[in-house]
Amino acid sequence: MRKNIHLDFFLLFLFIPVLSCKTDRHPGKADESDSALFYREEYRPQYHFSQASGWMNDPNGMFYLDGEYNLFYQYYPDSTVWGPMHWGHAISTDLVHWTHLPAALYPDSLGYIFSGSAVVDTRNVSGLGSEANPAVLAFFTYHDPVLEKSGSNVFQNQGMAFSTDKGSTWIKYKANPVLKNPGIRDFRDPKVFWHEGSGKWIMILAVQDRVHLYSSPNLLSWTFESEFGKEAGAHGGVWECPDMFELKVQNSDASRWVMLVSINPGGPGGGSATQYFTGRFDGHRFISDHTGEKWLDMGRDNYAGVTWSNIPRSDGRCLFIGWMSNWDYANRVPTVNWRSSMTLPRELSLEKAGAEYLLVSKPVKELSSLAEETFSPLMGPTASVEREARIGTGSMNLMQCGIKIIFVLSDTAADSLGIRLANGLGEQIKIGYSKVLRKVYFDRSKSGMKDFSDKFAGVSSASYDAGDKLEFHLYTDASSCELFVDGGRLVMTNLVFPSEPYSELFLFADDFLAVEDMVLSRLSSIWR
Ligand code: FRU
Repeated sequence: MRKNIHLDFFLLFLFIPVLSCKTDRHPGKADESDSALFYREEYRPQYHFSQASGWMNDPNGMFYLDGEYNLFYQYYPDSTVWGPMHWGHAISTDLVHWTHLPAALYPDSLGYIFSGSAVVDTRNVSGLGSEANPAVLAFFTYHDPVLEKSGSNVFQNQGMAFSTDKGSTWIKYKANPVLKNPGIRDFRDPKVFWHEGSGKWIMILAVQDRVHLYSSPNLLSWTFESEFGKEAGAHGGVWECPDMFELKVQNSDASRWVMLVSINPGGPGGGSATQYFTGRFDGHRFISDHTGEKWLDMGRDNYAGVTWSNIPRSDGRCLFIGWMSNWDYANRVPTVNWRSSMTLPRELSLEKAGAEYLLVSKPVKELSSLAEETFSPLMGPTASVEREARIGTGSMNLMQCGIKIIFVLSDTAADSLGIRLANGLGEQIKIGYSKVLRKVYFDRSKSGMKDFSDKFAGVSSASYDAGDKLEFHLYTDASSCELFVDGGRLVMTNLVFPSEPYSELFLFADDFLAVEDMVLSRLSSIWR
């Protein structure tokens, strides 16, 4: 494996000067060389974002400006395992097709560039740009590995860099760090956002197993406001990569603040996961509606996700992307040349469910532009199945498609039902629902390669109360499966590494099963 990595890196360096093309705003764009050399590997996602080569973890600094969605990410270009962190960079005009740009931020004498966020300083309160040409300010954690090894507690400080060319090039702020460590290990991942009510910029920071909120009038000097989380949510690990935003409650005039906080370890399925809180925020203190745990995604592979800033009011969506892996095994998944990809970009919304608020995630609507062809395997408006039925899939590639299925539970005698994807080697995933247990589950215990970690194989399950109908919408992409239940009221994101792609699709049930609809959609590659 190592030999391949070195060979490909060598080839990359040979090709870049010849093939890299230049655009006015983005010198050094390196797309053609990337897709010629990469994106054909086994397990390489075809319609998800992944870096051409090397290592990637958390999404960082996402902002929208003048028609472009910017995505930065934790990046180590020199290896396929985690190392000195940079910010990699890519842009998109539709959240689906991505253009790689040169790395935006490199480690320096203050440390590695850990996770963070970016905002557009439209009113020029920082004085670093102008109102005509606003600066983009990126906030990140400087992680000093030397200080860390020395036993010091103050090795993580918040730094800032700014761009006056819409994110193409960055200048590190001369007075870094902008927020000094007060003596706490695990003091990182600043997410900055504007709070209209108090007229202040707010920074939320992960601090051990809670968050701290700071405020600023000018994005340069920061004042501590409050702490949240000691008595709320999950505490099985350290809190990381927080985010906060206000969402309108669907079908009402009310709104609620949502706080996302990733935690590692301590997720519901083990290892890394992202919890959320709903509540009120006055610019000073966050008051949660609940102390119990709520999870953004009940699968094992959606971590450190945050939202885009500066989305125009005319769009109004809350747009999210997560890192599709888990620290339990991220450094060991069996990919060559690159490690990790992002989840599908998702739109987040808030629903009132009884006395509680439910965070709903759906793939962004732009994704439908990739659907090349659809195929409905079931004839007639309602089909019925007993035990297990193999479903014809036409010429569909089962590992690069959307599979949507609606079960009519009111006409179904079965307790346990679902779908199974399998290959000729007996490897499979099972995704099902138990009416009696009121649970959705995703079983990858026999999904294929799993020896790289004893924490990989297993079953993700989540309590879920389905109504008369139950919709599964599964997106597969080489090595990823994203399950959206009933329009994203429950989500499970899980990686799989079958020794050969799954090629057969089955419906299973322990008694008579009624299915209203089943549609398969081929999704085209964004890299070819
Ligand atoms: C989350 C995380 C962050 C940190 C970054 C380092 O996955 O641990 O807390 O900033 O990764 O790469």
